[in-house]
Amino acid sequence: MAEATFHFPRGFLWGTGTSSHQVEGNNTNNNWWGWEQEEGNILNGHTSGPACDWWGGRWREDLDRAAESDHNAHRLSIEWSRVQPSPDHWDESVLDRYREIVRGLSERGMTPIVTLHHFSDPLWLAEIGGWENPSVSEYFTAYTKRVVDGLKEYANYWITINEPNVFATNGYLLGIFPPGKRNLPSTINVMTNLVRAHAGAYHAIHSIQPTSRVGAAHNYRGFVPFRSWSPFDRAAASLLSSQFNNFFPRAFTDGVLRFPTWFKRIQAAKGTQDFLGINYYTRDMVAFNLLKTNSLFIRRFYKPDDELSDNKFIANTSQFMFTALKWGTQFDVPIIITENGVENLNDQLRRKYLIQHLHQVWRAVNFNFPVKGYFHWTLVDNFEWERGWTQRFGLWELDLHTQARQKRPSADLFAEICRQNCLSSDVVAQFAPEIYKEMFPG
Ligand code: FCB
Repeated sequence: MAEATFHFPRGFLWGTGTSSHQVEGNNTNNNWWGWEQEEGNILNGHTSGPACDWWGGRWREDLDRAAESDHNAHRLSIEWSRVQPSPDHWDESVLDRYREIVRGLSERGMTPIVTLHHFSDPLWLAEIGGWENPSVSEYFTAYTKRVVDGLKEYANYWITINEPNVFATNGYLLGIFPPGKRNLPSTINVMTNLVRAHAGAYHAIHSIQPTSRVGAAHNYRGFVPFRSWSPFDRAAASLLSSQFNNFFPRAFTDGVLRFPTWFKRIQAAKGTQDFLGINYYTRDMVAFNLLKTNSLFIRRFYKPDDELSDNKFIANTSQFMFTALKWGTQFDVPIIITENGVENLNDQLRRKYLIQHLHQVWRAVNFNFPVKGYFHWTLVDNFEWERGWTQRFGLWELDLHTQARQKRPSADLFAEICRQNCLSSDVVAQFAPEIYKEMFPG
């Protein structure tokens, strides 16, 4: 059998990602909580409920799991609605709690990456128009200052906003996240406010902590024209790439917001990303289709021979991890893979997916792409937004009724990779023998 070892650079960050609303439980004061109680919004009527009970204290045992699995980093998020339960009230005890958690990471030898906004908004903000409110950027900056002031001793990697493209699209264009709007002008307004808010937060963080490293986590999707000869399919794919993939990272680079037929300059946003966070999961085939009146005449789909996740949510297309990283190099800053993973209950696909994607990350590293870390989504099964609990992304399985965790084989696989800082043929032979030959031919 061929033998090989794919080494990663020294100091590479290895860990998992989580977000407040998905793991803490009982976030009753944010817009998602109310949205979950309304019929028809969440698959099977699921609600986040106690989630993974992190707020109840189970963050400790889960971070122990991560540390014992040799993760040297962890990405988590702060819940705005807890820190600022109403516009004129800041809850110091909440900041104390987050200090304890983030310090808990350092104590366990893990570098924290702290996200300030991961999809959920305080109820009071939603009530005054959410991200359409012209003052949202000032509110977000004030909140950011409080958090960074409170945590600066323990953290210096910050993600301002998680997936601004998904947040704006799902909440304001497709109507599948709160506030459930389907309105193009609103979406454009929200995209503009997200850029302003990111810029405000970036400068605020740097003024409090000059050595900080600030970025955003961008969801990158591969978009491939279905009929490569068709100018219509090509135009559709290119529209999606420019609006979905490029819009925010470009705006954070040169301060220019490029809409399809016009642009706008926000000077303060120029040069506001010290690193590029990439969340990569999958790619779409893209075709122009006159019947698709609700989605700008664009049809997105997977190929019939794609290997799909349990709920057909993700196609296992690992080559596009390399494409995503190559795309990321144009921004000329270090890259961190802030999310990557697959929903898979029995863990068969996850092992393969993880290995194949890390293989592509390793390739990218060898092309000297400045990739500095990899965060698997996620540590323990958690509440997956409009898909509720139907999708299982965890290295650990969660029993919702008992809160018991059960380790999946991928947790051990990932631990080996983190421990050795490399992906070896031995590990592939042990955890996913079915792909050994394809990875190590000869
Ligand atoms: C990303 C989100 C994350 C999680 C994964 C599966 O879009 O950032 O919270 O839901 O998808």
